[in-house]
Amino acid sequence: MASGHGAFVLAAAMLAAPLASASGMTINLTTPTVWQRGTNVNETWASDVGPYNSGMFDLLLVNHNSTGATRYTLATNVLTYYEIFWFIVPNVPVSSNYTLQAVNLTNYADVYDQSGTFSID
Ligand SMILES: *[C@@H]1O[C@H](CO)[C@@H](O)[C@H](O)[C@H]1NC(C)=O
Ligand SMILES: *[C@@H]1O[C@H](CO)[C@@H](O)[C@H](O)[C@H]1NC(C)=O
Ligand SMILES: *[C@@H]1O[C@H](CO)[C@@H](O)[C@H](O)[C@H]1NC(C)=O
Ligand SMILES: *[C@@H]1O[C@H](CO)[C@@H](O)[C@H](O)[C@H]1NC(C)=O
Ligand SMILES: *[C@@H]1O[C@H](CO)[C@@H](O)[C@H](O)[C@H]1NC(C)=O
Repeated sequence: MASGHGAFVLAAAMLAAPLASASGMTINLTTPTVWQRGTNVNETWASDVGPYNSGMFDLLLVNHNSTGATRYTLATNVLTYYEIFWFIVPNVPVSSNYTLQAVNLTNYADVYDQSGTFSID
């Protein structure tokens, strides 16, 4: 099992992330219910890569508002076949408008999957 450290703010910009992936790597992220800052969570997903496949993604936390989105890196180089990743929820702003995105390591506009919306308290 892998672990992540604090979040790193990537950008505070208008981001329109297309949901169609160019690669075809299937990742279905589980949508969290409510996360508490500073607590440990397990994020899980379903994927179609086997244990011998070296597919990886970066896991982003995205805070949406009416004018844009702020993205935080939760983890880089996550092995897709793990199907679980645990970390401590970083000290991000409280909001009910977060999603998770599994993205291409080098092209964050290439979104493999986006979770449903959830809250961080
Ligand atoms: C909305 O998100 C944008 C982009 O991150 C940010 O610049 C802006 O301050 C945010 N607005 C509010 C009201 O939080
Ligand atoms: C990630 O994006 C790069 C640049 O667009 C592309 O060359 C590469 O094939 C992509 N990787 C995967 C696994 O889709
Ligand atoms: C995360 O998974 C580990 C290993 O299964 C378990 O011990 C732990 O209680 C889980 N944590 C949460 C917050 O579900
Ligand atoms: C991911 O979700 C899609 C759409 O519901 C489904 O067709 C696909 O079989 C799922 N893939 C896995 C690996 O669970
Ligand atoms: C939530 O995000 C959507 C865009 O994804 C935005 O249209 C909406 O205004 C946001 N809601 C709040 C309360 O920030």
